[in-house]
Formats: sequence, structure tokens, C-alpha cells
Amino acid sequence: MRSSRQPDENGFYDLQKQDPSQMELRGRFFSDDEGRYFFRTIKPRGYKIPMDGPVGDMVRAQGRHGWRPAHIHFLVGAAGYREAITALYMADDEHIDSDTVFGANESLITEPKQGDPGSPFSALPSIHFNFRLAEAVGGQSDRVGADPSQIVKKTAEAH
Ligand SMILES: [Fe+2]
Repeated sequence: MRSSRQPDENGFYDLQKQDPSQMELRGRFFSDDEGRYFFRTIKPRGYKIPMDGPVGDMVRAQGRHGWRPAHIHFLVGAAGYREAITALYMADDEHIDSDTVFGANESLITEPKQGDPGSPFSALPSIHFNFRLAEAVGGQSDRVGADPSQIVKKTAEAH
């Protein structure tokens, strides 16, 4: 696990609120000698995407609401494997079936539960989720999922 991030109680990420060098709303990470990893954080809340500009016009024209269900973003990597950028979504969010950006698919919906015997935080609700990484091909460990730098690079190479 390389990083995670999530919005605050008002639906804002740290980068939207303050100096980008100041990080918050991440998590505290732990690992053990069996290769398992854990992190402790707060349960996220859903948020509405910015509805000004052409994106807001498009969302309104399609009759959609602009809300994203509560989720936590992850960047997961390990030596010899491709990095994965993904998110886990909270099953109890009222917008879980109508994510305005269509990111909440069935395989990524989770529900915090009390009493997971494998959790080091047994007194707290927890999510047990196994991220599966694809092996790197040819020694490269490029990312699976959104990586804007690769989009720019490929666009530049196409011209
Ligand atoms: Fe998000």
C-alpha cells in the first residue's frame, strides 16, 4: 500500500482546502512479518463534484445529480508488480447505485463490519479487502488505472 486519501466531513480533499504540501485525511499504515498490511483511518463521506463549467452542464443535461458515493482512493504497489490506482466504496452510501462518474462497480463496494478476527483494530469496524496486482511485464511496473502522466506522454508521442 503506497497511499490512500479521502474527503473530510464536508466532502473536500486536502488538496482542495489548503497548501498542497500539507497532507491530511490519509491513514496510518501498518504491516506484519507475514506481508499483510493494515491501515487505520476515518470512514469517508460522499461528495458532490464541482458543478460549474462544462462538466456541470453535461451532468445536468443528462439528468444526473453530481454526487459520488463515499470512497477511499488507493495507490497500491509492490516490487515486480504493476501499480494499481483504485478506490473502495461504502455500501451504505445513498448514491452507491448512481455514482455520477460511474466508478463504483460491484467488485469495489465494501461495508465496514465489527469483529474481524484478522484486524489489529478488533474494537473498531473494519473492511477486509485483498488487492490483487498484475505482474510487471518486461521489468516495468507501470500503473493500472488512471495515470495522467502516461496519457500526456502517449498523446505527445502520437503527434
Ligand atoms: Fe474521490
